[in-house]
Amino acid sequence: MKDERTPHLDKGGTGRLVPIHGADDFARMRAAGQLAAMTLDHVTPLVRAGVSTGELDRSIEAFMREHGGVPATLGYRGYTKSSCISVNHVVNHGIPSDDKKLADGDILNIDVTVILAGFYGDTSRMFAIGERVPVKGQRLIDVTFDAMWAGIDAVRPGATLGDVGHAIQTVAEAARFSVVRDFVGHGIGRVFHDAPEVRHYGRPGEGLVLAPGMLFTIEPMINAGRHEVKILKDGWTTVTRDRSLSAQFEHTVGVTDDGCEVFTHSPMGFDRPPYASA
Ligand code: MF3
Ligand code: CO
Ligand code: CO
Repeated sequence: MKDERTPHLDKGGTGRLVPIHGADDFARMRAAGQLAAMTLDHVTPLVRAGVSTGELDRSIEAFMREHGGVPATLGYRGYTKSSCISVNHVVNHGIPSDDKKLADGDILNIDVTVILAGFYGDTSRMFAIGERVPVKGQRLIDVTFDAMWAGIDAVRPGATLGDVGHAIQTVAEAARFSVVRDFVGHGIGRVFHDAPEVRHYGRPGEGLVLAPGMLFTIEPMINAGRHEVKILKDGWTTVTRDRSLSAQFEHTVGVTDDGCEVFTHSPMGFDRPPYASA
């Protein structure tokens, strides 16, 4: 990779500069991304009916710390948990709780971010509990996974963030689902939420032109019904306004000289549900 580190302006997005990272930073991102993905692998066999999201959160924190990491969400803007666990019509930022037990038929997203040696790795996956998951919920999970990957596959130097968003939106809307507008992917690296803003909808050719060394997440939230969301009184939990199911997957990626590197692949091969051991 070239060692050109001139930042690029995130026009029409955050308006801030988009940092360009060199090979050393990519190596550190690889380590942080792998620990985040390992953390989801670790929790996978524990995700079953009867377990509380609070228990899962404690197991996530312990695993990160045992491997030299720190949960990035702990104390972040007043958030007090080590993960976000969003069940059924919860879109994102579901707060783990001992009172929230998983039940047969639930679909859920577990989102973890770990800080390792100063770098952030951020990834989330969907899980489905038992045999009674609604057909629409299963289809929503499959479409959201495919939409995320359509976005990742559009990442290469010279492509734009509009190309990425358009690829995601096309897959979601072809299935008659909708893309959440109020939350976006984000630049990442030495900070949790950096420029650029990564919309999961858009028009081809518009937005930031991608260049080698950019690091960001792709994390589409797709609703089975309408795209509107609302935040509950706890200040965090986001739900679909029409109470329809919502799904999300997230990878942390970097733009390379000839395409894209995904830092958060599952070491256990648990990238796409159903997971072998779950
Ligand atoms: N991990 C989330 C993301 O993908 C952010 C969670 S912030 C929290 O950006 F405070 F809600 F945990
Ligand atoms: Co993220
Ligand atoms: Co995340």
